[in-house]
Amino acid sequence: GSGKFFVGGNWKCNGTKDSISKLVSDLNSATLESDVDVVVTPPFVYLDQVKNTLIERIEIAAQNCWTGKGGAFTGEISVEQLKDLGCKWVILGHSERRHILGENNEFIGKKAAYALSQNLGVIACIGELLEEREAGKTFDICFQQMKAFADAVPSWDDIVIAYEPVWAIGTGKVATPEQAQEVHVAVRDWLSKNVTAEVASKTRIIYGGSVNAGNCAELAKKEDIDGFLVGGASLKVLSCYSRGLCQ
Ligand code: G3H
Repeated sequence: GSGKFFVGGNWKCNGTKDSISKLVSDLNSATLESDVDVVVTPPFVYLDQVKNTLIERIEIAAQNCWTGKGGAFTGEISVEQLKDLGCKWVILGHSERRHILGENNEFIGKKAAYALSQNLGVIACIGELLEEREAGKTFDICFQQMKAFADAVPSWDDIVIAYEPVWAIGTGKVATPEQAQEVHVAVRDWLSKNVTAEVASKTRIIYGGSVNAGNCAELAKKEDIDGFLVGGASLKVLSCYSRGLCQ
């Protein structure tokens, strides 16, 4: 694997002030492994609450951002505002934004470039639909998504790649460790050929899609799985915020 193990909890569009206050207090007293970067991604409207109550050791990410500096962009949230609230990261290119909100590669690349220019780390999501996998297009799709990031960003220093096969997200149908490993290796190889060998070896590639207490330990054993982006389980099973401790 590459770098420090990285586990992000993506809370998506869930929670209330009360449920989030409970989750934060559970996280504050949870046992976290010292060699794991732990990040949580609350909905925008709770970022400030979480930042003000969560232990410093856990970093905060946003679930999206605007493509540039703030201004007359009704309903958008700027990178500067996220930094102001204490966010260290932003998730970009999540499949729910690609496929439900219609965000394309170019738009996502723009956001990534701007976030990085302001020193906000990017959790760059890629992943194929079920029909794309079944048509044998998994690598093509992932590489196109990688190329869009690569074409846009000035540097890979503050990027974590999240491979999330869309058919595994929220479905309970996790990729096998072998299926995930196969794509992670291919993505690392792509980085080596299209960016640099150094970037390929140091960039963390994390897996997301129905990660839970029962399957994370096996996934974490794979050489090229450097962490997880956890959705549903991150709201309730805090043992998933660690490397393979989730037995
Ligand atoms: O960002 C997280 C992924 O979309 C995974 O979600 O763990 O609920 O399948 P899930």
